[in-house]
Amino acid sequence: MRTHYCTDLNENNVGEDVTLAGWVNSYRDHGGVIFIDLRDKTGLIQLVCDPADNEQAHKVASQVRDEFVLIAKGKVRKRGEGLENPRLKTGKIEIVIDELTIENRSEPMPFTLGDENVGEDIRLKYRYLDLRQKEMFETFQLRSKAAIAARNLLDSLGFLEVETPILTKSTPEGARDYLVPSRVHNGEFYALPQSPQLFKQLLMVSGFDRYFQIAKCFRDEDLRADRQPEFTQIDVEMSFCTQEDVMKVAEDLLKAMFGACGYEIKTPFNRITYRDSMEKYGNDRPDLRFGLELVDVIDLFENCDSPIFAEIAQYKKLNRIKALKVPGGDKAFSRKIIKELESFVSKFGAKGLAYIQVKEDGLKGPILKFLSEEAIETMKSRLEMEVGDIVFFGAGNKKTVLDYMGRLRTEVAKRMNLIDENRLEFVWVVDFPMFEVEDGEVKALHHPFTMPKNIDEDDVEEIDSIAYDVVLNGIELGGGSIRIHKLDIQRKVFEMLGIDEEEANEKFGFLLDALKFGAPPHGGFALGFDRLMMLLTKKESIRDVIAFPKTQSATCLLTQAPSQVDEAQLKELGIRIRKQPKTDAAQ
Ligand code: AMO
Repeated sequence: MRTHYCTDLNENNVGEDVTLAGWVNSYRDHGGVIFIDLRDKTGLIQLVCDPADNEQAHKVASQVRDEFVLIAKGKVRKRGEGLENPRLKTGKIEIVIDELTIENRSEPMPFTLGDENVGEDIRLKYRYLDLRQKEMFETFQLRSKAAIAARNLLDSLGFLEVETPILTKSTPEGARDYLVPSRVHNGEFYALPQSPQLFKQLLMVSGFDRYFQIAKCFRDEDLRADRQPEFTQIDVEMSFCTQEDVMKVAEDLLKAMFGACGYEIKTPFNRITYRDSMEKYGNDRPDLRFGLELVDVIDLFENCDSPIFAEIAQYKKLNRIKALKVPGGDKAFSRKIIKELESFVSKFGAKGLAYIQVKEDGLKGPILKFLSEEAIETMKSRLEMEVGDIVFFGAGNKKTVLDYMGRLRTEVAKRMNLIDENRLEFVWVVDFPMFEVEDGEVKALHHPFTMPKNIDEDDVEEIDSIAYDVVLNGIELGGGSIRIHKLDIQRKVFEMLGIDEEEANEKFGFLLDALKFGAPPHGGFALGFDRLMMLLTKKESIRDVIAFPKTQSATCLLTQAPSQVDEAQLKELGIRIRKQPKTDAAQ
């Protein structure tokens, strides 16, 4: 229909006859002459309808309203002196209309395109209109470029793109499954894949050697700003590889994807062990755009005069006493802010927030009276305290202290403006423990197919795995591992996880069988594509980089999914609904 997109045209086209197509972005009637800003995916151009030039076209133009769909034929003209619009790419020209057709009309818009204060609910309800906005289109342009770059890079490295089933059996990635009832086998269910983990391992047994997929994954878990129930992974698996080989592919892949979107990133990325990350940053996804490392001071409280701190300091394996020095924090933080920080950490289990202020005339703080001169001196030099600093302390159970002190670190960095939003700090977290023990229950930290390093170690918490996560600016972008390719090790890991032989055979019999038929050594990783795009486009929410996302309560405001189904469908599936609660969260 069209000869050009709007912004294809410039002064070099002056005098040419063109046909354009798009939407009315805005229109103005200037004493008879009507100006229309026509919009297509590339941008805007001004159409001019002068009754003196063409009465018929002017008549049509007088009917247009916002978001009407037009086909406009006309001649490119240079705008008059002083009438140019430097804010438009096509601001030096305009189209004098010969023929104007209204292809379709539009009702008044439910919200104004470009208005930043529109609520997300209305944007999601009319997502197709929301996506008309320039910024949205640009986001999806980048997403497409990144996906194509990923495909090209992996293709060039010999990876084969293979699709794996959506209707499948549960895979243990740690979340709840979405289930699909079977009509043919009443009472039985498919699970939607939490990831293609087991299928990609089977493809290695098939000898495909290098696999990838831009794969949809489904996890029924509590949603957050960086989590969706349905999301996309760039999923990779390779045979006869070491951890280094896999990490190199992941780095090259990220380099290609960021490169396609205009960001140059440096590889190889820095590395930190899981344990160091937990101790220094309080979590396994450290944000390295700023310092503020947590420092261990438990030894200094060993024989202190506070029975509480002294008791905590006795159990070094179970407990932690961590210090967070904030340079300049004493000057920056009023009493009110300190109170706010205290209430912030209390939400994550802190019983209080002790602190020491470094004043011109010495240290101030209630915990000082418990410490010996020697301990104070050691602390001063260990933390390199300077006048104007404030030091916060977290003491208690290891898991709780690391968690809230890590969160405090980030909160303080935000309040002190220490985070450079333009920095991209990638880091590999390596040497993950194989298991974590929670309330006496042994769980796999990654997944149970991860190769342990020292399976014969007596203390399960000391068994490490060949697993690695790639983290960007405090967000886990992806993760992977070298897998178990030997049946006896896989069986042993299941056993350690409390999965008995019968359950293992029932759930993963097909994998255990496959391991009997010459499974090669293999490993891989998966990148969270939506998260990656969220970081790349500096969006606050993962929903902004997914064309049709779900809300925080896993609903689709556009289609109204999930929705009830009619009785006949349920009957076919052999399902009777016990009750139909509409909880607040589900509304
Ligand atoms: P994992 O569970 O770590 O590994 O997932 C890989 C990456 O997927 C992204 N991700 C999510 N993104 C959005 N919404 C979610 N609900 C969500 N859950 C995960 C994250 C995460 O780092 N099969 C293994 C990979 C492997 O071992 O090869 C797996 O799925 O960015």
